[in-house]
Amino acid sequence: MSLREGTASERITDERARYVTPGVSTPRLVVAEAEGARVTDVDGRTFVDFAGGIGCQNTGHRHPAVVEAVKAQADRYLHQCFMVGTYEPFVDVCKRLAELSPCGDGEQRSILVNSGAEAIENAVKIARAATGRQAVVVFENAFHGRTLLTMTMTAKVMPYKKGFGPFAPEVYRVPAPYPYRGVSSDAAIAALEALFLSAVAPESVACVVLEPVQGEGGFIPMPPDYPARLQELCHTHGILYVDDEVQSGVGRTGRMWAIEHYEGVEPDLLVSGKSLGGGLPLAGVTGRAELMDAVHAGGLGGTFSGNPLSCAAAQAVLEIVSDADFLAAAEQLGVTLRARLDDLAARRSEIGEVRGLGPMLAFEFAEQSSDRAKAVVAEAFDRGLILLSCGLYGNVIRLLPPLTIKDDELEEGLALLENSIAACD
Ligand SMILES: Cc1ncc(COP(=O)(O)O)c(C=O)c1O
Repeated sequence: MSLREGTASERITDERARYVTPGVSTPRLVVAEAEGARVTDVDGRTFVDFAGGIGCQNTGHRHPAVVEAVKAQADRYLHQCFMVGTYEPFVDVCKRLAELSPCGDGEQRSILVNSGAEAIENAVKIARAATGRQAVVVFENAFHGRTLLTMTMTAKVMPYKKGFGPFAPEVYRVPAPYPYRGVSSDAAIAALEALFLSAVAPESVACVVLEPVQGEGGFIPMPPDYPARLQELCHTHGILYVDDEVQSGVGRTGRMWAIEHYEGVEPDLLVSGKSLGGGLPLAGVTGRAELMDAVHAGGLGGTFSGNPLSCAAAQAVLEIVSDADFLAAAEQLGVTLRARLDDLAARRSEIGEVRGLGPMLAFEFAEQSSDRAKAVVAEAFDRGLILLSCGLYGNVIRLLPPLTIKDDELEEGLALLENSIAACD
């Protein structure tokens, strides 16, 4: 469906084309309001939201407690800069992250920043300061952001890297397990061991950075044994394990952090973001005190890092998500969604695999081409469903509905999804 003539969507989209660089991709949705798992456009059309602003609305659009916390904070002060004056919401978010940290025993500290990419950059800085080493090991199908270092770490040329080099030095890449496409945990471990023989000495490596469920790369969950085996290799060589939970964290997989699904794994640094701020920009790095204290005073920070409004929102988000009932409901959502997607896949031969962890689920079309997924996403939009694709080949449909989605909205969204797929035959 092209934009209807004379609509508000058309007017704003025309102005967007006139004033906004096309370097930011151009969707057709022009948002007026959002609530829970519903988005309404400027012409009054409503959509079921299976995107959540790319995984930033685990608690749903405008969760009342988040809105209330932000309003209350707006009445006190909007900005302070943590390097000019300490404020309690920042400290309290770090305290909550310490309590929730999967990074082992002992005191935990955090730094708060504005975006996932900035947090990953800071995790690398901390790892380098703590180890005195420079190299960073990342994986195929990784996505870590769009800044110079993080786009270097990201494993997808279009649209993230093409024409944007030269890239940052001392970033090495190996395959991560991807059983559906033939990469086992054994093969991935062997590739890392080979990297240490062929490209970089392990004693030069500061950290490995891994998403427990690779997000942009195609919602590829690490097999049960892999994170522990990776951790063992890291321990052998004194390498830090950085757990990128920007997309998979804050309840997305039915646990606070996806890494909690993996027994015996305690990453050295945890990177959080997206849903942490409940819709406001906030990301963090959390880790044991001896690592976080390795950086000299003043070495970390940023003008807006840990903005008070974002911190107030995050206090509410962490309160909501750490509730056992919230996580149990999220887990149940995962069970329901998985059953529905498995059922769909059984009837649609073009779907090669349904996969994910808890309610962080996706399905991959067997054909390694973006055509079908693009068509399904466009068709879904016309029918009233906001959907996202992902994967190196753009052939994966990922589902990121708010974890608070109501049963009838979920049913409506799944019916729209199934009809959209059928319409693209
Ligand atoms: C796993 C992961 N890491 C890092 C990032 C970068 O976060 P941001 O877009 O907030 O910079 C993303 C964003 O999608 C992500 O999914």
